[in-house]
Amino acid sequence: KYEIRVIVLAGLLLSAFFFAILYNDFSRNIDVPACVTYSGTFKVPHVKKLDRSTYEVYGVAKMWAFTPEDLTFPEGSTIDLYLTSDDVVHGFNIVKKGVNLMAVPGATTKTTVTFETAGVYRILCHEYCGSGHQYMMGKITIT
Ligand code: CUA
Repeated sequence: KYEIRVIVLAGLLLSAFFFAILYNDFSRNIDVPACVTYSGTFKVPHVKKLDRSTYEVYGVAKMWAFTPEDLTFPEGSTIDLYLTSDDVVHGFNIVKKGVNLMAVPGATTKTTVTFETAGVYRILCHEYCGSGHQYMMGKITIT
């Protein structure tokens, strides 16, 4: 009897989490990180300007830095961020923006971030990746 209750409870909990994701994704317009088909081209770090306030960033994490390391965009910019890793699994956290991605070798993670306020946004690696892990950071400057 207890087993059935536990199974039902776990099932309810799972669907609650699932609906929370859907709710955040569609109703509150929060971008849920997505996986994109990987191709070797993602391994070349670069920034592509689409228009005055929209950019694509192709970021690569590698022991122990993110490239491009230092990015500057104008206030109000929206950035499509494609992230991959050239060696091991790294974390990618934009402080104060609630952006939290994984950089996985052979895969691409994508998210979209809009920077409404000027300032310096630190990027930290939050996945232990070797002896230089604590020095692995980057920054985005919004002017
Ligand atoms: Cu990269 Cu920790």
